[in-house]
Amino acid sequence: MIQVNENYGEVAGSYLFSEIAKRTAAFQESHPDVKVMKLGIGNTTEPLCPTIIAGLHKGVEKLSKVETYSGYGAEQGDPRLRKAIAGVYQERGVNLDSGEIFVSDGAKCDSANIQSIFGLENIVAVQDPAYPVYVDTNLLSGREVTYLPCLAENDFFPQVPNGRRADLIYLCFPNNPTGAVATKEQLKEFVDFAREEGSIILYDTAYSAFISDDDIPRSIYEVGGAKECAIEIGSFSKSAGFTGVRLGWTVVPFDLKGGQFPLEGGQVNGMWNRRQTTFFNGASNIVQEGGLAALTPEGRTECQETIDYYMQNARIIREGLVEKGLNVHGGVHAPYLWAEIPSGLTSWGFFDKVLEEAHVVGAPGSGFGNNGEGYFRFSSFGHRENIIEAVESIKANLKL
Ligand code: MLT
Repeated sequence: MIQVNENYGEVAGSYLFSEIAKRTAAFQESHPDVKVMKLGIGNTTEPLCPTIIAGLHKGVEKLSKVETYSGYGAEQGDPRLRKAIAGVYQERGVNLDSGEIFVSDGAKCDSANIQSIFGLENIVAVQDPAYPVYVDTNLLSGREVTYLPCLAENDFFPQVPNGRRADLIYLCFPNNPTGAVATKEQLKEFVDFAREEGSIILYDTAYSAFISDDDIPRSIYEVGGAKECAIEIGSFSKSAGFTGVRLGWTVVPFDLKGGQFPLEGGQVNGMWNRRQTTFFNGASNIVQEGGLAALTPEGRTECQETIDYYMQNARIIREGLVEKGLNVHGGVHAPYLWAEIPSGLTSWGFFDKVLEEAHVVGAPGSGFGNNGEGYFRFSSFGHRENIIEAVESIKANLKL
């Protein structure tokens, strides 16, 4: 008899964004004449910038000539791209060796796969609410998960799990879903804890490009000692519009120690290298040319314009929701707004209400964890006219 992974019984029947898509499709089917406005999944909508398009074309062209054709590349990524990513860190005073940077086909896959190099007996601490991938992948692997509440009372920054075992700690800033950001001092609390306890922090920095205040750290490595205890996952998805193109990276420092674990420096880097070379054949060579273009000065200036556009959307959503009388968090250094649900409705109840009355799709807070109950996430990715239409519809049609 074939045995299936019984841990599938430990997670919800469908992944949060699949469930949102399913419910949205059902509503659309029963209301074929209604225009539904989607502010649910954080999916980019604006065209890639011209410099990236030129880079992608260059990647395609290279494949058309025998002199420049390439087949399999390095599983760890094009050395030029690894170096360019290291260059971006350098600007923030973080020195990384290219060998510490692993290019991938996206941060989602890396944040799902990274747990596979750690033992099943490790206890995993996760912000609650959190991007569901961290919890689901660890439950599917059979690990115990402990939760770090992120509430309005603590400005959506978790308390260090003092007195509790937390071997692997997932942190994401700017945060998905709350839109909160972390100061250097706050991150230092976790770095100090991890170094003392021998924990490893898995730091998701997918939204760092949305930070507009220079004092807010873009990377956990801006905190001294973090290279000894943190792995960082980065993404081109939201910063360069690569949600469909797919490109990301993971930094596994040579200095990573993991304190109480019997690890020699460099061992985790070697394990991730072993994992990637075995399970992965490298990101697309065309896409990596696009990534390289995104990191040129011109590419970065153009990408910044698109980021500013989305953040202007965030401002429009925030103002509209506040005018409607809602309490809203986030949306200042992050593309997500985290609204408090006023009535006694559950997050999914509010999802249905906003969809039925305003024809707007959002993301129910409880889909991100128990402490997300009572909240509702709006994504600011969208065409300006749709964002304005959605906000106007909420203001005019949602009955609070
Ligand atoms: C989100 O909406 O939370 C993200 O777009 C999902 C993702 O990046 O995979």
